[in-house]
Amino acid sequence: MYRLQNINTDVFLKEYWQKKPLLIRQGFTDFEDPIDEHELAGLTEEDSVDSRIVSNHNGKWTVAHGPYDDINSHCLGQWSLLVQSVDHYVPAADSLMNTFDFIPVWRMDDLMVSYSNAGAGVGPHLDQYDVFIIQGKGSRRWQVGLPDQYEAVRPHCDLSQITGFTPVIDEVLNPGDIIYIPANHPHNGAALEPCMNYSVGFRAPSQQEILSSFADYAIDNNLLSKRFKDRALSPRKFSGEIKQQEVAQFKALLAETLQGEAFEKWLPIFLSDNKKAGDESNQQIEEFSEQAMMEMLQNGEYFYRAPGIKPLFVEPGNSDKHGEDNFTFYILGEAYSGPIESAELVKNFLSEPFITEEFLADNGGQHPEFAPLLTLLVNKGYWYIGE
Ligand code: SIN
Ligand code: CO
Repeated sequence: MYRLQNINTDVFLKEYWQKKPLLIRQGFTDFEDPIDEHELAGLTEEDSVDSRIVSNHNGKWTVAHGPYDDINSHCLGQWSLLVQSVDHYVPAADSLMNTFDFIPVWRMDDLMVSYSNAGAGVGPHLDQYDVFIIQGKGSRRWQVGLPDQYEAVRPHCDLSQITGFTPVIDEVLNPGDIIYIPANHPHNGAALEPCMNYSVGFRAPSQQEILSSFADYAIDNNLLSKRFKDRALSPRKFSGEIKQQEVAQFKALLAETLQGEAFEKWLPIFLSDNKKAGDESNQQIEEFSEQAMMEMLQNGEYFYRAPGIKPLFVEPGNSDKHGEDNFTFYILGEAYSGPIESAELVKNFLSEPFITEEFLADNGGQHPEFAPLLTLLVNKGYWYIGE
């Protein structure tokens, strides 16, 4: 449905990714918005949806978080409604995001959608994340600068801005134009008329987040219980002194945790865990039998990957410990396995936005283990049946 154009992705990765901002004129020709402002406002009614309205009314900045009792009461002066993870709720928004898959899926975070009235914006600021911002309907002036020491200001407790910056890009974006902003590059968008923007954001976990998630996993699974040992303890002059050798031993003990299997098990679970608070936990999903599922496939039904589902798998390693018998993939922080013989089929299946019976025919016919896998994934709500 969406096709990214006017960008050479090889050149982009080499010259721009995480290095320089870039304006891509008409990245999408004849761009059609995947959602309108009324549908966007409708999403904010759900408790699980993370949204905020940033307004500047008579020079006073305010941030209000959804869900809202009376959304209009926050739309004062110049205001933007910003909604996170719209890729999880709107299939067309998910398709738009997936056109950026020349960057690995595990690097993607979410699609944030905003609607701004004329003159609105969230003010000059820095983000910790790389982002492609797609201009939807309307037009917006975008200014982007280079990393530097900027003075931070907080006109509201939930709004981080900087006082100003010198732009190296200062352009008006029209529907289908895209601006790429690397992390920590100051930017400011001011709507020239009511407009929609789509931000494809990328994740960049900090050492703190990585360590804390890995530690939680180790605690939950009762791993990494090896203790400090010092059988070679020798006499020392000051009993209060920690020897450099002991510092090195502590580092080595910790470094060992990264070499073991636990880290390799945890990493894809961590990277695939893009679920949002409250997501799909209390969804009522129809339970299909394997037979019913296969009949539907034979009857020409399409099986679509649900919005927000971004399956991952790890490149096989060359050592024995990487499980030769099973192919494992990960969805929303959970591992699924199938026999290694059907790994190619499953990889192809996971990479397609939808499949039909034809897909199985093109992939060497039906493997016996495919029916239970598809049934499991449909019954979890990760694939759905449509026309
Ligand atoms: C937006 O207002 O749509 C994007 C905000 C940002 O600059 O991150
Ligand atoms: Co930003």
